[in-house]
Amino acid sequence: MRFTRRAAVAVVGVAALLAASACGGSDDDGGGTGSTKVEVFTWWADGGEKAGLDGLVGTFGTACAGQEFVNGAVAGGAGANAKQVLASRLQQSDPPDTFQAHAGAELLDYINAGQIEDISADYETWGLKQAFPQGLIDNLTVDGKIYSVPANIHRANVVWSNKTVVADAGITADPKTMDEFFAALDKVKAKGITAPLAIGKDWTQLMLFESVLITNLGAEKFTGLWNGSTDWNDPGVAKSITDFKRLLTYTNSDRDALDWTDAEKLVMEGKAAYQLMGDWEAADLDAKKFTDYGYFTFPGNGGTFQWLADSFVLPKGAKNVDGTKCWLKTVGSAEGQKAFNTTKGSIPARTDAVPADYPKYQQAAIADWKSQTPVPSCAHGSACSQGWQGAANSALGAYSSNGDDAGLQKALVAAATEFAKK
Ligand code: GAL
Repeated sequence: MRFTRRAAVAVVGVAALLAASACGGSDDDGGGTGSTKVEVFTWWADGGEKAGLDGLVGTFGTACAGQEFVNGAVAGGAGANAKQVLASRLQQSDPPDTFQAHAGAELLDYINAGQIEDISADYETWGLKQAFPQGLIDNLTVDGKIYSVPANIHRANVVWSNKTVVADAGITADPKTMDEFFAALDKVKAKGITAPLAIGKDWTQLMLFESVLITNLGAEKFTGLWNGSTDWNDPGVAKSITDFKRLLTYTNSDRDALDWTDAEKLVMEGKAAYQLMGDWEAADLDAKKFTDYGYFTFPGNGGTFQWLADSFVLPKGAKNVDGTKCWLKTVGSAEGQKAFNTTKGSIPARTDAVPADYPKYQQAAIADWKSQTPVPSCAHGSACSQGWQGAANSALGAYSSNGDDAGLQKALVAAATEFAKK
């Protein structure tokens, strides 16, 4: 398996996580064939993420009568904890009936490790080849086979703001360049808000850094960082580290201890003006009844849409194959995608969705997805394998405390050398 080293490290402490997981085991259903329970493993345990999952579960209940949803969620943004538990369970041949995996390189990890089933024939039966855009189908296809059903398209490169804090600082327009962003941050700081840009730990820092890379490299060169056509020694990477370092001076000093929702709270409470986060934040703010928020594409990212897609798989050795297939069919259906995405902040992967059915933010995202240039995300698995993602998260985590510019670039070069095209 490609992410062996990381998975091996992950096993340490996994027992504690398994114990903390509400529904960590899958053997509470009597096991064996004939089970009517479908254990769905995600990291959507709270707020807007849970609301999205609940929507899907509602549709599943209607469409798959006789099957019972079992919630295997393990809390922690971006699957920081869930992925460790999952790796351990897969190693022990104790898979859940289905689990959440990002389309793209992350999914390839599971395919190459032989851990998930080819469901191409079901795609034909369920009419999914026509339902999803060709670009997404191409992304999901490996050697002519498809292994997962995407539930959505999320966007990563969005800045969320507290409108009152921004207005109080005299900012009248969303910043469109890095210079304008620094100027806006200075204005908020001048109002006595010492950390105007809220951020959390490693993977949230990687997201911010990726946005800065998109600004400095542009869509094509940024994508090239992950497919081998752009050198990580590029001066644009060095410039991005400089910009990123400056951005960090506007962030909360306890960042390495916070999850994305803790950073989001700083924005909601008016202790910060801005946060870079994926558009699950729209759903989460809505779920928390915070309405005073604005959003804009990260300054300098122009017409790029940094995408990721949550998809569900059929693991080898799933106990309830029929029930799982009904879950997957529901995930890909028009009803399932609507129930899920209207409350998750994402947009449907299907092309037949009706924008008017969606909240205002998603309507704008649906339009952007059609017109803008897609770029992948490493923090959320569409660009890089789990091993590479782990190395990038560690590099950013180390940089957060040591601020060693050359050290960061060197670590990123080393990660690319180790993990690219494996
Ligand atoms: C992403 C996932 C999103 C959202 C986010 C924060 O990796 O694709 O659906 O859950 O993590 O936890």
